[in-house]
Amino acid sequence: MKIIIGNDHTAVELKNVIMEHLKEQGYEVENIGTDKAESCDYPVYGEKVGRAVVNGEADLGIAICGTGIGISLAANKVKGVRAVVCSEPYSAQMSRIHNNANVLCFGARVVGSELAKMIVDTWLSAEFEEGGRHQRRVDMIMEIEDRA
Ligand code: RB5
Repeated sequence: MKIIIGNDHTAVELKNVIMEHLKEQGYEVENIGTDKAESCDYPVYGEKVGRAVVNGEADLGIAICGTGIGISLAANKVKGVRAVVCSEPYSAQMSRIHNNANVLCFGARVVGSELAKMIVDTWLSAEFEEGGRHQRRVDMIMEIEDRA
């Protein structure tokens, strides 16, 4: 499985920790985030992660900024993206099972590296419950894009 990962300047260190963690587990990881400490604009990276997932360049995306919020808002503007901000594993797990989230976001100023690893592991190991009410609700979410 290929994971695309993007981040702004607040999350360079945490991005590197997560990338290493994913590679150790055998995931293919592509970094499209900044590697510099200089202030930059998170929407650029949220959009890049979102587009890579929707275009099929990666299976899933991870996007990290200070809070996870700004970068998730940007990713969610890309048609087909379901980006979620998770600061604990339970929401991360349910975002896959019920919401079929395809981009995971969190905040480098919110979660520590060990908790972030746990969130990522939980998210990647959970699977969407296809069919039934969850599929119908996810379809309803995606149909909102067509009414925009
Ligand atoms: C950068 O200071 C900060 O605003 C950004 O990383 C993010 O938290 C925005 O939502």
